Amino acid sequence: PKVAIILGTRPEIIKCAPLIKACDRRGVDCLLIHTGQHYSEDLDQVFFDQLELPTPDYNLEVGSRSHGEQTGRMLEGIENLLEAHTPDIVLVQGDTNSVLAGALAGAKSNIDVGHVEAGLRSFDREMPEETNRVVTDHVSDYLFAPTEETKRYLERESVPGEIVVTGNTIVDSLYEYRDLAAEKSDVLNELNVAEDDFYLLTAHRAENVDTRDSFDRLLEGVSRFAAQTDREVVYPIHPRAQSRLDEFGLAVPEEIRTIEPLDFLDFLRLESAAALVFTDSGGVQEETCILGTPCVTLRYSTERPETAYVGANCLAGLDPDDIVEAGTMMLGKCADWDVPFGDGRAAERILDVLAVGAEPDAAEVPT
Ligand code: UD1
Ligand code: UDP
Repeated sequence: PKVAIILGTRPEIIKCAPLIKACDRRGVDCLLIHTGQHYSEDLDQVFFDQLELPTPDYNLEVGSRSHGEQTGRMLEGIENLLEAHTPDIVLVQGDTNSVLAGALAGAKSNIDVGHVEAGLRSFDREMPEETNRVVTDHVSDYLFAPTEETKRYLERESVPGEIVVTGNTIVDSLYEYRDLAAEKSDVLNELNVAEDDFYLLTAHRAENVDTRDSFDRLLEGVSRFAAQTDREVVYPIHPRAQSRLDEFGLAVPEEIRTIEPLDFLDFLRLESAAALVFTDSGGVQEETCILGTPCVTLRYSTERPETAYVGANCLAGLDPDDIVEAGTMMLGKCADWDVPFGDGRAAERILDVLAVGAEPDAAEVPT
């Protein structure tokens, strides 16, 4: 069978990488479609280079637009490509507009759709990602749920597709790259920060950074905790957040050092070395849990509750006092939790379920 993999943003490139490589190992005919939702070098090309991924067969170059326009243009472009190439299965990963467009285009073309990272729910319909997750899950034929918890959500919604718990492909990626990051990345020296003596911050969610007051409170809470504990915060800033800072004329407190977005190895090195990570990212909640760094989530809900259940993550919201309290609780926490996202073989398992390609030699699969 021929597989089409659709991706468009930084986290999709990172989490689809194990699938693309597994297709390659199995000799599967794989059509790679990039929607162009992310296009800046440091959100896009840098990951293709570092993860040694093939250049996409097509890039729709849709770029930044309103939700409707962005999704609509993707839908049209993907539909044309699916019609021309007639794949047997369309794979999408995650919860972005690229995922929604890919899933809808596949479903409308009567091609089987596989949703990787299915079943996540924040139960907050204000988040654009929640709409994307729910719709994608309901039009998918295969639901690759990372955990038993996510499988239960899908069962409760009576989705029509087949649900399989596979683990999350982020574990596959981290197992492949974390040692390399420790070995190759010089980012601690470059930034002049010492292991366990700084905090890492990422914040880019629309509901946090698109309102001046929310963004201000988030920065206030994190900087206050940094000042109290006498540590610096490193913030590789997403372009969305940077453009909001510029638009609002918001000054970043002196405890927080903003830097350009990092490549994957440097970011993993910082995540592993930080004393604590503050984030509103989905992927970063998972990665800190896997890498053994305590995490404070700057949101009121999470679609990754497993990270909190095992004790790796604490939901703080945006109130500065709550952020300080959560930081105090999580700092120095012993990372003795179990990783709830699988064993690093999610991509192989997904291709097994789809019965595509020949199963590779165990020795060929990175662990
Ligand atoms: C998107 C996803 C979000 C995901 C994030 C990963 C949706 C609805 N949102 O959010 O779920 O967590 O990607 O990072 O799909 N920009 C650039 N260069 C780029 C891309 C974006 O400068 O390559 C700037 C533009 O100013 C743009 C803004 O970022 O307007 C937002 O980009 P967009 O793709 O709409 O959403 P993200 O915030 O990146
Ligand atoms: N990431 C990165 N460099 C950075 C920030 C994040 O490589 O400067 C990686 C991170 O390791 C994770 C992914 O980007 O795998 C998370 O992406 P993001 O936070 O943009 O999206 P989300 O996971 O919230 O959808």
